[in-house]
Amino acid sequence: MLRSVILAAAGSARMERFVANAPISKNIVHRFVAGDGTEDALRVSRELADDGLAVSLDHLGEDTLTAEQAEATKDEYLRLLGRLKETGLTPATEVSVKLSALGQKVDDRTAYEHARAICAAAADAGTTVTLDMEDHTTTDSTLEILAELRKDHPATGAVLQAYLRRTEGDCRELAASGSRVRLCKGAYAEPESVAFQSALDVDKSYVRCLNILMAGEGYPMLATHDPRLIAITEDRARWFDRDPSEFEIQMLYGVRPDEQARLAAAGYTVRVYVPYGDQWYGYLMRRLAERPANLAFFGRALASR
Ligand code: FDA
Repeated sequence: MLRSVILAAAGSARMERFVANAPISKNIVHRFVAGDGTEDALRVSRELADDGLAVSLDHLGEDTLTAEQAEATKDEYLRLLGRLKETGLTPATEVSVKLSALGQKVDDRTAYEHARAICAAAADAGTTVTLDMEDHTTTDSTLEILAELRKDHPATGAVLQAYLRRTEGDCRELAASGSRVRLCKGAYAEPESVAFQSALDVDKSYVRCLNILMAGEGYPMLATHDPRLIAITEDRARWFDRDPSEFEIQMLYGVRPDEQARLAAAGYTVRVYVPYGDQWYGYLMRRLAERPANLAFFGRALASR
C-alpha cells in the first residue's frame, strides 16, 4: 500500500517540485546519487574501483518528451564515455542507459539510433552498455531494440524484472552464449495482470529465473540486496560450477555497502550501480518505496529543518 502511494508520487510533478525545493534534499540524495555532474560520477567510480568494486554509471533522467532532450542525453553519455576512456576507468566501469531518456516513448527509432551511438562509443572506450528496464509497457520495445543493438554490439546487456509474469520466458530466450542479463525484482507499480503482487511470489520467480540464467550459457548479473537471494546465488554458482568470473552480483550505490565489500573480498565480481545527474526525483522515490526505513530517514531529515 505504502509502496503504491510512493510510486504514485514518483509520477507527480507537484510532489517533485516540493521535494526538489526542500532545503535538506541534497543530503538525502547524495546517499544514493554520486552528484550532479560527469566529474562526480568519475570520482565515485574511482573510489569504488579502489575498493575492488566494478561500476555501472547511469545518467539520471527518464520519460524524455522532446528530440532535443533525447539528443542531450545521448551527448552526455558520449561525453561520459570519452572521459572514462581518458581516465582509464574502463573496462571496470560500464554504463546503464534508460531508453525512455533517449526518447523511446516518443519514437523508438530515435531511441535506437541514440543507443547505437552510445554502444559504439562504449566499444571505443573498451566497455559495455546495459539497457535498464522500465515499466511493462516498454518491455517489448526494449527487447526489440536490444536484439538490433546486439547485431553490432553483442555484449550489450539487458535487465529482466522477476516480478513480471513473462520474465521466465524472456530468461530462456536470453540465456544464450554472449548474452549479458541483469536480473532484478522490478521497481515500478505494475498491475496484477502482468506482475506478481506478493513479495513471496516475486522472490520465487527470481529464483526460477536465476536457475535458468545460471544453467544457461550467458553472463548472469544478479542485482539484489536481499540476503536470502544472495545466499541462493552463491549456492547456485557452486551447483552449476560457475567460476566467479562467469557471473556478477550487482547492488545500488548507497545500499548495503558493507555487504558489497564482503562479497568482493570473498572473490565475487560486485558491480555498483551509480546514478548521477540532477534528474534524481523518480530514482529517489523508487528507492524510498523499496524500504520504509529509507522513508523514515527522509522524514527525519525534512523534520530537522
Ligand atoms: P528488496 O527491496 O525486496 O529487499 C530485500 C531485503 O534486502 C530486505 O528485506 C533487506 O534484508 C535487504 N535490504 C534491501 N535494502 C536494504 C538496505 N538499504 N539496507 C539494508 N538491507 C537492505 N529495477 C527495475 O525495474 N529496472 C532496472 O533496470 C533496475 N536496475 C537495477 C540495477 C541494479 C544494480 C539493482 C541492484 C537494482 C535495479 N533495479 C531495477 C531495482 C530492483 O528492481 C529493486 O527494486 C531493488 O533492487 C530492490 O530489490 P531487492 O532485490 O534489493 O530486494
